[in-house]
Amino acid sequence: MTAREADARRTLASVTIVVAAAGKGTRFGGEIAKQYLDIDGKTILEHALERLESLNPKEIVLVVAPDDDRYRQIPATARCRIVTGGDTRAQSVLNALQEINLDPDDWIMVHDAARPCFRMEDVIHLVDRATQNQAGGLLAHRVVETVKLADEHEQVVSTENRDALWLAQTPQLFRYGLLRGAMVDAIDSGVTVTDESSALEFAGYRPVLVEGARSNIKVTRPQDLELARWLLARDPAEKAPT
Ligand code: CTP
Ligand code: MG
Repeated sequence: MTAREADARRTLASVTIVVAAAGKGTRFGGEIAKQYLDIDGKTILEHALERLESLNPKEIVLVVAPDDDRYRQIPATARCRIVTGGDTRAQSVLNALQEINLDPDDWIMVHDAARPCFRMEDVIHLVDRATQNQAGGLLAHRVVETVKLADEHEQVVSTENRDALWLAQTPQLFRYGLLRGAMVDAIDSGVTVTDESSALEFAGYRPVLVEGARSNIKVTRPQDLELARWLLARDPAEKAPT
């Protein structure tokens, strides 16, 4: 471990992590919300929580849907603070931010429950890089495919220049005060906020992109489940130091 990685691990001890798990999984479909689907004996949420716990953060705040009665069956949720989510992901995250009152300069990490396959080293790297930037930062990867702009008939209008295009992932890491204020303003202004970074961008900030593995997929459609299963089997979670 380099000295900077050791510093980042120490920083994590003062970081609160918000886990967004209040979605319905509409694109995935099915009876059970996707965060509660099983992969090798554990739910997707459980896999994500185990990995986050092994980072030894200050606290994990889990945002669940108002009608959720499944999270209690997951032992790791007993160690989380539970907050009720809202109609959108942004509202769910804002509910959590408003429930926890932190110092404005404290660092807060936000993660999607639907991303159980992130690499620890990428998160350590994120903490190292984002804490050096006033506007924080996020894991992301570069677009590698050729990007097409389509019309309403799914016919190609043009090919976009991908050189400056990145796909945002989570975790994302920001100063608590900045993020909370930016989320309130963005939601009040009716801006579409599909990740925390967009709220900061709307406020004029430039969060730093920290390149992470493309394998940090968001389980969104049924075909993603098999890939997540394969990725988790290949790279099991580290055990949390006791
Ligand atoms: N999420 C949330 N509150 C919402 C909507 C989403 O906490 N109101 C969470 C989801 O549980 C998920 C993460 O945000 O872990 C990323 O969202 P997404 O992949 O879009 O999940 P869903 O909204 O559940 O799926 P869909 O958009 O297909 O309905
Ligand atoms: Mg959604």
